[in-house]
Amino acid sequence: MPDLCDLILDEHEGFRRRFAELDSLRAAAAAPERLARVWGPLAEQLELHASAEESVFYPHLLQEGKRGEDETTDAINDHNDIRDAIRQAASEDTGAARWWEAVASARAANSDHMAEEEREAIPDFRVSAPDAEREALGAAFVAYHDEHAGGRGLDTANKDTDAYLARHDA
Ligand SMILES: [Fe+2]
Ligand SMILES: [Fe+2]
Repeated sequence: MPDLCDLILDEHEGFRRRFAELDSLRAAAAAPERLARVWGPLAEQLELHASAEESVFYPHLLQEGKRGEDETTDAINDHNDIRDAIRQAASEDTGAARWWEAVASARAANSDHMAEEEREAIPDFRVSAPDAEREALGAAFVAYHDEHAGGRGLDTANKDTDAYLARHDA
């Protein structure tokens, strides 16, 4: 089973490609239906990714990472910024100027967040947690995706960082 850290990096790369796809559609002045066919699944994957990390990755980083508490606090706040922008996009007409602004906000929040995760949280966990554990958590990450495929049963509400840290005994 792939390492959890590698699975997260793979999904990050997928997000970069999907946002680039939206650039191409914008350049082609694509119809709202075509934009929705890319943005809908992308928004759903961003939600699923954040929730899967909060369920599978960050509780373990908190226990084993060198700077787990700071990294987790930053991540939850960033995930909430991404969720806010996704909700804003959902409230606008697909393809309208304000919709593109919301999509750009989601992209900016997500790009900043992925860079931080890739620079801090993921390297910290790769160094701190043994290979076998990262592989077992990779399996759990995949299982979380299967369980919540299509957004089924996913809690997309913003998370309170203090409550999250308390629940995971940080
Ligand atoms: Fe991530
Ligand atoms: Fe994240």
